[in-house]
Amino acid sequence: MLSVKLAAAVLACLPAAIASATFGTWTNDDCTGDYFEVTANGGCFSDNSGDSPYSDPEKRKDCAPVHTIYNFPNGTWVENLAVRSSGNILVTLDTAPEVWEIHPTNYSASLVHTFPNATSTMGITEIKPDYFAVVVGNFSLATFLGTKGSWNVVDANFLNGLTTQPHAASNVLVADANQGVIFEVNISTGTSRVLIDDPALKPNETTQASVGSIHSRGDYLYFTNSFASPVLGRFTLAENGTAMGPAETIVSKPNYPTLLGGWANDFALDANGNAFIATDTSNSLVRAAPSGELIIVAGGVNSTVVEGDTSAAFGRTSRDSKTLYLTAHGDSGYPGKVLAVDVAAYS
Ligand SMILES: *[C@@H]1O[C@H](CO)[C@@H](O)[C@H](O)[C@H]1NC(C)=O
Ligand SMILES: *[C@@H]1O[C@H](CO)[C@@H](O)[C@H](O)[C@H]1NC(C)=O
Ligand SMILES: *[C@@H]1O[C@H](CO)[C@@H](O)[C@H](O)[C@H]1NC(C)=O
Ligand SMILES: *[C@@H]1O[C@H](CO)[C@@H](O)[C@H](O)[C@H]1NC(C)=O
Ligand SMILES: *[C@@H]1O[C@H](CO)[C@@H](O)[C@H](O)[C@H]1NC(C)=O
Ligand SMILES: *[C@@H]1O[C@H](CO)[C@@H](O)[C@H](O)[C@H]1NC(C)=O
Ligand SMILES: *[C@@H]1O[C@H](CO)[C@@H](O)[C@H](O)[C@H]1NC(C)=O
Ligand SMILES: *[C@@H]1O[C@H](CO)[C@@H](O)[C@H](O)[C@H]1NC(C)=O
Repeated sequence: MLSVKLAAAVLACLPAAIASATFGTWTNDDCTGDYFEVTANGGCFSDNSGDSPYSDPEKRKDCAPVHTIYNFPNGTWVENLAVRSSGNILVTLDTAPEVWEIHPTNYSASLVHTFPNATSTMGITEIKPDYFAVVVGNFSLATFLGTKGSWNVVDANFLNGLTTQPHAASNVLVADANQGVIFEVNISTGTSRVLIDDPALKPNETTQASVGSIHSRGDYLYFTNSFASPVLGRFTLAENGTAMGPAETIVSKPNYPTLLGGWANDFALDANGNAFIATDTSNSLVRAAPSGELIIVAGGVNSTVVEGDTSAAFGRTSRDSKTLYLTAHGDSGYPGKVLAVDVAAYS
């Protein structure tokens, strides 16, 4: 265990400042071209047959409708998101040290903040009402390695997922996706320590990246490991904030088709404990039930519908509480995106 006092704030905190908005009505036109059929292997693929899921209850039931909220310029890697109580969406970018706010009612975006002296923003989480902590540092998409020394957590290599510590409001938990450990950071002091160092968080023998994403819920800390088993698991956190015992496996390995070894990036938990996992290079949105049962909700390895999805978060207003917002990376030449998926039939 390490305890290090830092010279500067560990994470940048953004006071959010945009007025609230109501969620727009979706029309069939919004979804033109965005419709899917369930294939024999359980994947959901855009079929381009001209039908709309809204006019075909069977298709709508079997496959979640997806529409685009916002396209970033080509080559923008959109990494993570957090939804404000107003309904607007804050997103982070691997390809610029910026946080953007997306307005899902009018499909516009505004730059909230640019951080100096860094290349990327990563995890983002609300630490008190409308106050967000963001992971900022240097990261290379070419190598999937972070730059040691670019994060104010001095022992960190590549900080990625960020969440609150359920047993200490002053602290956040942040995953190091190169070292495969979870740090606990005191936001007021910048002090950090390794909270969890467990085999379940480690990279596999051929990849540099491991535990990408973490979310606390009650006494549990859920995580995904992008390239190694378990793909989804959780720890129980004791009242004193430490992990009680080793990781509990929820999903050992994917049974959905994967591409480029990508098993899971970030995920969102619904009220029933289902985890909706963005599978990144595997181009799908997958639901993991608490039992570990997996189904594909949208996309598939050969589909562009949710291509490159990096993270997921539920809407927070009465109009979009069954809407899952996804970020998607724009790899060479493609636009990074924010998408909305209607998961009412799945959640
Ligand atoms: C979109 O709505 C937000 C309020 O949520 C407003 O601030 C912004 O100016 C609007 N943008 C456009 C292009 O209408
Ligand atoms: C930029 O970051 C490096 C490494 O963290 C630090 O040594 C340097 O002082 C920073 N420069 C500025 C202008 O903040
Ligand atoms: C991080 O990236 C910024 C912007 O490219 C650069 O100025 C800074 O030196 C880098 N920091 C480290 C520790 O490499
Ligand atoms: C975080 O640091 C503040 C300021 O020193 C302290 O009051 C608080 O107790 C610390 N939180 C924890 C959980 O140790
Ligand atoms: C935290 O609580 C757990 C469970 O009660 C206990 O086993 C552990 O020793 C405690 N750790 C510290 C540092 O107090
Ligand atoms: C490690 O990752 C590689 C690349 O994604 C994959 O092909 C391999 O099956 C993984 N190994 C294990 C043991 O999971
Ligand atoms: C994806 O497309 C490739 C090439 O056409 C094909 O071999 C593969 O079976 C397809 N995968 C699925 C899950 O349909
Ligand atoms: C963005 O990339 C796509 C795919 O390569 C291409 O079709 C589109 O024309 C590009 N858009 C711009 C503005 O360069």
